[in-house]
Amino acid sequence: MRRLLLNILVVAILVVCGWYVLYPARFDAEPQTDDSLTARLKTPVETSPTTPITPSHFLNTTSQATYVGKEQCAECHSDQHKSFSETPHSAAMAVVEADAEPPDATFQHDLSGRSYRVHRRDSQLRHEEAIQSGDEDEEAHVLSDHVARYVLGSGHHSRTYVVQANGFLVESPLTWYASKRRWLMSPGYDRPNHRGFRRVISIDCLFCHAGRVEMVNGQRNKVRLFEHSIACESCHGPGSLHVAQEKAAGPSTEEPDLTIVHLGRLPRAEQERICAQCHLRGVASVDARGRHITDYRPGLKLTDFRVEYGLEQSDDSMTVVGHIQQMRLSRCYQESAELTCTTCHSPHDTTTAVRRGEYFRQKCFECHRSDSCGLDESDRSRQDVEDNCLACHMPRGGTDIPHFVFTHHRIGVHKPNELPHAQLATDSAAETLIPLLDVSHLPQIEQDRGLGLAYLRFSETEQAGLAKLDYRQKSLELLEDVYRRGLRGPDLEEALAILFGERGASQEAMQFAESAVRHRSKSAFDTMNAWAVLGNIQYKKKQFEGARQAFEQLTKLRRASQDWVMLGGCLREMGDTQAAIQALQTASEIDPARSDIHQTIAEIATTAGRPSLAGKHDKQARSLRSFTRRRGRP
Ligand code: HEC
Ligand code: HEC
Ligand code: HEC
Ligand code: HEC
Ligand code: HEC
Ligand code: HEC
Ligand code: HEC
Repeated sequence: MRRLLLNILVVAILVVCGWYVLYPARFDAEPQTDDSLTARLKTPVETSPTTPITPSHFLNTTSQATYVGKEQCAECHSDQHKSFSETPHSAAMAVVEADAEPPDATFQHDLSGRSYRVHRRDSQLRHEEAIQSGDEDEEAHVLSDHVARYVLGSGHHSRTYVVQANGFLVESPLTWYASKRRWLMSPGYDRPNHRGFRRVISIDCLFCHAGRVEMVNGQRNKVRLFEHSIACESCHGPGSLHVAQEKAAGPSTEEPDLTIVHLGRLPRAEQERICAQCHLRGVASVDARGRHITDYRPGLKLTDFRVEYGLEQSDDSMTVVGHIQQMRLSRCYQESAELTCTTCHSPHDTTTAVRRGEYFRQKCFECHRSDSCGLDESDRSRQDVEDNCLACHMPRGGTDIPHFVFTHHRIGVHKPNELPHAQLATDSAAETLIPLLDVSHLPQIEQDRGLGLAYLRFSETEQAGLAKLDYRQKSLELLEDVYRRGLRGPDLEEALAILFGERGASQEAMQFAESAVRHRSKSAFDTMNAWAVLGNIQYKKKQFEGARQAFEQLTKLRRASQDWVMLGGCLREMGDTQAAIQALQTASEIDPARSDIHQTIAEIATTAGRPSLAGKHDKQARSLRSFTRRRGRP
């Protein structure tokens, strides 16, 4: 509580005097009018140069090399192609084939009061979501019914589905769990107010599951898929130079061959980076300025592209999440030069699926003997008939939630019932974030920027809990400081726009948001949140034309019903009822359970003299309200 009061005080002091000192010129600016927004957005803006990429001796890390696809590699490496095709990596993402998918089903999700149906129509797999409207005997009110297009997850543990809606890829609330042999709610959806069909699958999600995926026009939510599942070049790097060399000259005589990355020849730290692209996961991640993780190529330093952050550990190894982090805490790792992921997992080994026990026991014997164990064999066999080293030294937890470690990767002596994954923090005190990989080669100002953005990202997660505001305060302090020290860039300015906007400093927020969306260089990605700041502030100021432009941009960049509601609001204020109704109808398509949207359409339709349309939406609003009442939600 005292911390909170202190924060409020700090903020208040900042509001009153801080900004005058930091940005004196801004307060002299003329109040700007609506119409100049488009004009203002055309003025160029200064972007700080990006930091150099640490060079690599591999030739396929430069833009000279391009991706060729795994079919090319298969021509000459049929063994590796075949082995790889049988491992989960090669099935991490796929196009849905209705016949091969789990069976049709229906079930009721009590927490959200919704019912689900998996069904097939015209040889397509479909996921339907419905609610029971007012009367018990009235038919279920179908909210959405989408074709499942892609599936994420080889099905080893679970399969999560992706649908297409309004030009975006969207996660289905339904997942198939292999161990239970059942359709149930997707991870994170087993709660009263889940997102239904509203979570957009962005490039950041697909990057780890797809082979080759790119953003369309730098938009994170619009993707182009070149290769559906993880493939050769995800680990070996782009192959064009290697293919050209092998085809032209026959086998290279050069040792080593620098046109392609051979993981088996890399020192372990360099090899682990390649796995870390997808297997290193912290609580927040931040892309390097002007770059995206999709620009990363095997052989390069990962931290030149993206930095993962984790919570600083007191020293309780139990809360360390992630295979890489856990492995690095093992004495096996620390006291041997060679133990690494590929010691136990080769991406070309087909014995992957069910191979606990004997397979891994032999791995232990590469460095230990049976009598290296502190317990003698008879004691061990009493506790575990198979004397399975893993049972005691790499215990397994009972989860099937993707992205949780199932098998403890700190190889060592564990307490009984020690879970391999961390419990979610519910602490109310803010903790410290630290980068998970070494970032000392980055300039200090970039390190500070990364950390500041990481606090902001982390504050938006559930794990931030009650300390959310403290994390945002830390973010503001760091980001304001790097801005003052001269760093410029779209995501920095977008973050400042959000943080200032929340504190009611709308003029500052507008200026940061405008400059964020003005960065038009090729490497600048969409700044959705800056458009949101621009739209909301102008709407509040009744500058409806400017607000309309901003919300229209937003509807192209993301799929959120509220953006369409706001766009409809602007259009209504500007007297374009027809367009307003259309915008609201799209809003309702995105979030079909919102009665307020139907209510507003009914109101507009009534004023516009369209009673039948008004009647239809009024009825839907009432039916949805009665559903909410019956569930006792506010
Ligand atoms: C035209 C035939 C051909 C094609 C196509 C081809 N390779 Fe090769 N590759 C070879 C030959 C021959 C060697 C062994 C000699 C060498 O190291 O260059 C080799 C070696 C390799 C090596 C080991 C390199 C080393 O340092 O020893 C890797 C890894 C590799 N290829 C991956 C790939 C990948 C990934 C693709 C697809 C992008 C691919 N290859 C496409 C012929 C080919
Ligand atoms: C492009 C992203 C990506 C890269 C690079 C990557 N992985 Fe994976 N890995 C995944 C995904 C996604 C899955 C889950 C696949 C599934 O079951 O759907 C996975 C699954 C696994 C599994 C569990 C399934 C199995 O095969 O037993 C292991 C082990 C694994 N990866 C090890 C590695 C190692 C070692 C490296 C580095 C040499 C690596 N991965 C590189 C994304 C990646
Ligand atoms: C940073 C990389 C990364 C991102 C981003 C990522 N995944 Fe994964 N995913 C993995 C890896 C690695 C695994 C396999 C093992 C594990 O859990 O670590 C996996 C496993 C899964 C599985 C289970 C696979 C199986 O065979 O049981 C599903 C389902 C899944 N992910 C869905 C998603 C969805 C949906 C998103 C986006 C919202 C997403 N993933 C984003 C890396 C990633
Ligand atoms: C998840 C990462 C990953 C993917 C994806 C992957 N490889 Fe590999 N590859 C490795 C690793 C690690 C090695 C080193 C040897 C080992 O561990 O088996 C390797 C080794 C190789 C070698 C050298 C073999 C030798 O003995 O010298 C070739 C050739 C190769 N891979 C080709 C391919 C081809 C072709 C594909 C796609 C069909 C592919 N790899 C996909 C990780 C990967
Ligand atoms: C690449 C070599 C290597 C492999 C493979 C390996 N270890 Fe180790 N391990 C070591 C070294 C080195 C130490 C530290 C010195 C010692 O105790 O022998 C160690 C230590 C340990 C310890 C003591 C941990 C502690 O915290 O005191 C345990 C337990 C252990 N290993 C179990 C295993 C098991 C089980 C496997 C197989 C799953 C395994 N190791 C695989 C090299 C390895
Ligand atoms: C000493 C051996 C060993 C090392 C080293 C090792 N693993 Fe594992 N890993 C295992 C075992 C054992 C399993 C459980 C396999 C099973 O149940 O079939 C496993 C399972 C996994 C899984 C499946 C999900 C889970 O938690 O069960 C992933 C993903 C994975 N490892 C990734 C990695 C990565 C990435 C690295 C390198 C940072 C790594 N492993 C290093 C032994 C190892
Ligand atoms: C039933 C549980 C159990 C099984 C099975 C088991 N261990 Fe252990 N192991 C232990 C315990 C407990 C200790 C710690 C003993 C102590 O501190 O006195 C230990 C200690 C060790 C150590 C560290 C010894 C030291 O001096 O630091 C190694 C290495 C080891 N085990 C390897 C193995 C290997 C290899 C296997 C499989 C062949 C194995 N263990 C199977 C329970 C087990």
